[in-house]
Amino acid sequence: MSFPEQRPRRMRRSPAMRRLVAETRLHPADLILPVFVREDLTDPAPISSMPGVVQHTESSLLTAAEEARDLGLGGIMLFGIPAARDAQGSAGLDPEGILNRSIRAVKDRVGDELVVMSDLCLDEFTDHGHCGVIDEDGEVDNDATLEIYAEMGVVQAAAGADVVAPSGMMDGQVAVIRQALDEAGHQHVPILAYAAKYASGFYGPFREAVDSQLNGDRRQYQMDAPNRTEALREIELDLAEGADMVMVKPASAYLDILSDAVSISDVPVSAYQVSGEYAMIEAAAANGWIDRRTVITESLIAIRRAGATNVLTYYAAEVAGWLRDELAGRRPSSASGARATPDTSPAGTASAPSSSAQEPIRPNTKAASDAPAEPYDPSRTDAGFPPVS
Ligand code: PBG
Repeated sequence: MSFPEQRPRRMRRSPAMRRLVAETRLHPADLILPVFVREDLTDPAPISSMPGVVQHTESSLLTAAEEARDLGLGGIMLFGIPAARDAQGSAGLDPEGILNRSIRAVKDRVGDELVVMSDLCLDEFTDHGHCGVIDEDGEVDNDATLEIYAEMGVVQAAAGADVVAPSGMMDGQVAVIRQALDEAGHQHVPILAYAAKYASGFYGPFREAVDSQLNGDRRQYQMDAPNRTEALREIELDLAEGADMVMVKPASAYLDILSDAVSISDVPVSAYQVSGEYAMIEAAAANGWIDRRTVITESLIAIRRAGATNVLTYYAAEVAGWLRDELAGRRPSSASGARATPDTSPAGTASAPSSSAQEPIRPNTKAASDAPAEPYDPSRTDAGFPPVS
């Protein structure tokens, strides 16, 4: 019988030891919160396929932005949903349109204390739901769309956007936007390029979130899931066109792409944990099938471990709150990690408040927003990981 000389388990014996050797951590500044603002809305509107996420009113948006600032998030990404749409997506170009006036309002509110990014795309504004304008043959017209993107970038920068984020996957979009920004005196406004954006079923709930008018798909312009080498080409092109940051999207199912991107990029690389990734975690957690907080944290750690500089995630504010509480030495109550949504869990999954520090956090228990902070518990500070159930 021979015994191992190498014992990696030594470094995993206690939460404190694991914390010491953790290679990846989460920080609020790594997280970017995507937010939806809808014109003509009187109250925030829930998005049924994204429990806990809402379409904001213009006023609740400002509260969300203040919260993002107070939590020290890396930024917020604004998506606008107009009351009226047309074939050209003109509401996206209107300086008084919902997105542009929201950029201005948010910047007025948070100043330089929060990076405010804007989605630069036509799909929320077109009555056909495509990311560009349609030509006579019914196809998305790349070059005609570029002219609109260029103008849109200038309007967004003039409204005060700190970063513009073209997400339409038109060829050459970064170059034209860069040139237009520079000519209009916005040399200082960076471009976060959705460089390797795949046509993905994981965007499903986003359609509801932005009330998308799209019939069909975006497979003629977004990338095809089987392709890996092509992603490098897309990233290299965007870098050559002057992208200040590049993005891979979706995140979890494309960590190989993310890792590749990081290896060739000399600018920060973002990853977008998209609506479907969020919805799957929420659905499984609501059923009591996974531990919500453990999986959220693990999903984000995995994206960072693959190399993302920062992550766009609908969990940004919530996770930043957890991190803040951890640093403050506050242990979340057993009910933390649940949202203020009705408890629809199957009988038995909602747990009573836990008295044992070792007790795993149960998913889908009642919201704990007003629960008192519990005493410091070092086992909760394990690189953002609660004990795994
Ligand atoms: C397009 C855009 C989409 C998303 C972000 N920007 C939708 C699409 O490309 O079909 C998806 C984000 C998500 O699913 O969370 N403007």
